[in-house]
Amino acid sequence: MTTRAPAVEARQLIKTYPGDVTALNGMDITVEPGTVLGLLGPNGAGKSTTVKILTTLARPDSGSAAVAGHDVLRHPDRVRRVIGVVAQNSGADPVATGRENLRLQGRLHGLTGRALNERVAALLERFSLTDAAGRQVKGYSGGMRRRLDVALGLVHRPEVLFLDEPTTGLDPEARTAMWDEIGRLAGEEGLTILLTTHHLEEADRLAGRVAIVDRGRIVVEGTPDSLKGELRGDAVHVELREPLGEAGSTLLRGALAALPGINETHLDASRVSVRADDGAAAMPALLGALERAGVGVAAATVARPSLDDVYLRYAGRRYSDVEAEAAGHLALAGGAR
Ligand SMILES: Nc1ncnc2c1ncn2[C@@H]1O[C@H](COP(=O)(O)OP(=O)(O)OP(=O)(O)O)[C@@H](O)[C@H]1O
Ligand SMILES: [Mg+2]
Repeated sequence: MTTRAPAVEARQLIKTYPGDVTALNGMDITVEPGTVLGLLGPNGAGKSTTVKILTTLARPDSGSAAVAGHDVLRHPDRVRRVIGVVAQNSGADPVATGRENLRLQGRLHGLTGRALNERVAALLERFSLTDAAGRQVKGYSGGMRRRLDVALGLVHRPEVLFLDEPTTGLDPEARTAMWDEIGRLAGEEGLTILLTTHHLEEADRLAGRVAIVDRGRIVVEGTPDSLKGELRGDAVHVELREPLGEAGSTLLRGALAALPGINETHLDASRVSVRADDGAAAMPALLGALERAGVGVAAATVARPSLDDVYLRYAGRRYSDVEAEAAGHLALAGGAR
């Protein structure tokens, strides 16, 4: 192993927006060269703000960050030369063709003549866009457009690639194709990648290390397996037929605490999640306790802990609840994003 500096290093980034919105609240990030870090978090967690600061598009209120050894505040021009950025929203010109978009991007980075032609042709080929190269981007499917976005980010052969939600809005087939492509960039080309995602499955699949972001900071970081491994035993989830009241919750909590082999109980109105040394063995006792407490059960599952369970443990809330809450806020705010 070499002792090269981290490809990305951010220390204690703080960023507030007008209206007293704290977007980042002590964000720390390290990405080693040639690795993929997945920043995983729900709406509004601060993922895009982090990417904007690291790619010199926004300034933090305080804290420091360096990419490929260049300070983002002191040498933004040097940083820009060595990074590729795929923003959350497509940056391609919809009325230009795919090839025109790539050629323009190449020229902006100083490519001309044969070098430009070859680079553009290679990227079109690699992202399966050769046949569509002469068509206006506005006629592309979501998957094609996103592949073009990634190709645009790679024109100048960056050392570090930032992918802000590369697969959001894609259908499952296009998502899988994009995963394969990102996997190849990381594996075969040794690119350093920082990607943000809402999808636990995506982080699990693509990232060597995952950092879970909640309210503008990292709450836990590690390999997907180490995070899951920390949650020893099984995750047992029981869906209740009817929501529990306050009194019912307290009663049930007491009853569950007394059961052997069960640890880390988490109660919602209509869901009980526990971790058990042996989920299948704990299930009868768990269901018995619920029955004695007069709580009807709609469904029960035993599974290996997922990253969702990791999120619940470290953020103290359910990933899906945070997403639903954020969606509610967005709807109240008129749905604009
Ligand atoms: N330009 C801005 N002006 C005001 N507030 C902002 C601005 N950009 C982001 N915010 C707020 O900062 C917080 C973090 O936003 P950010 O876009 O970084 O989150 P995110 O994790 O990328 O979310 P998403 O998953 O929805 O893309 C949110 O509360 C957001 O509303
Ligand atoms: Mg975002």
